[in-house]
Amino acid sequence: MNNKPIGIFDSGVGGLTVAKEVVRNLPNEEIIYFGDNGRNPYGVRTTEEIIYFCEQITRFLISHDVKAIIIACNTATIAALDELVEQFDVPIFGVVRPGVSAVIETTKNKRVGLIATESSVKSGSYQRLIKEKDGEIEVFGQACPLLVNIAEECLYETRISYEASKYYLEDLINKGIDTLVLGCTHFPLHRKNIEEVVGERINIVDPAFKTVEGLCEFLEKNNMKRESGIEVHHKIYVSGKTEKFKNLADDVLNGDYNVEKINIEEY
Ligand code: DGL
Repeated sequence: MNNKPIGIFDSGVGGLTVAKEVVRNLPNEEIIYFGDNGRNPYGVRTTEEIIYFCEQITRFLISHDVKAIIIACNTATIAALDELVEQFDVPIFGVVRPGVSAVIETTKNKRVGLIATESSVKSGSYQRLIKEKDGEIEVFGQACPLLVNIAEECLYETRISYEASKYYLEDLINKGIDTLVLGCTHFPLHRKNIEEVVGERINIVDPAFKTVEGLCEFLEKNNMKRESGIEVHHKIYVSGKTEKFKNLADDVLNGDYNVEKINIEEY
């Protein structure tokens, strides 16, 4: 048993889609969430900047005595996972390798669409890791920066989300893909609109499911699960504005959360 909380972070609201899966699969676990909404989007930042931010956030989460950390951000996973694993003692999980495994299991025609931030698409990480597992799979990448902003603005259930999804996805659909990986944790918030645009023929992969599956296995294997029957109080912190973030957290995590702004530069 280990009753310490699990740290989860993202550049903003996107990681809440991963937190939601943690809450669903591990209802006894307590979460400390950090959304770096004062400094996002990460997708246009340099690797050095992202590593610097992630180091601060990791120190912040460790100051809350977390037993494990999920980098609930593809961009940050690609830029900083290896660096963080090397530097810190706490177990740290990323979302990209789980996403890659899900893609391999899903595609039949070996034509895969990747939607992500500009830096994730340009890094070629998903493409490389997928090719390493199956050299025949072709990956077509498309950066969708507006989908990050629309989600941060809490507009993912509007026409704006639908139109932006359509704008970004049209070319990918024409490539004959049978699988679309949501390579940015903000994008599952647009899922309904994305589904409407791509239709039933294309399978959507959300890396959050496999990520949380991996976390469950890890906690189980290392006897690190939290006791059942004790109260659960998730804590949410941000580096920027709290109001929209709270609305979204309440919506995604289905509750009434207190969102606290902190000065992350102190860590
Ligand atoms: N949610 C993030 C990801 O998974 C990044 C969004 C951003 O800040 O650009 O890549």
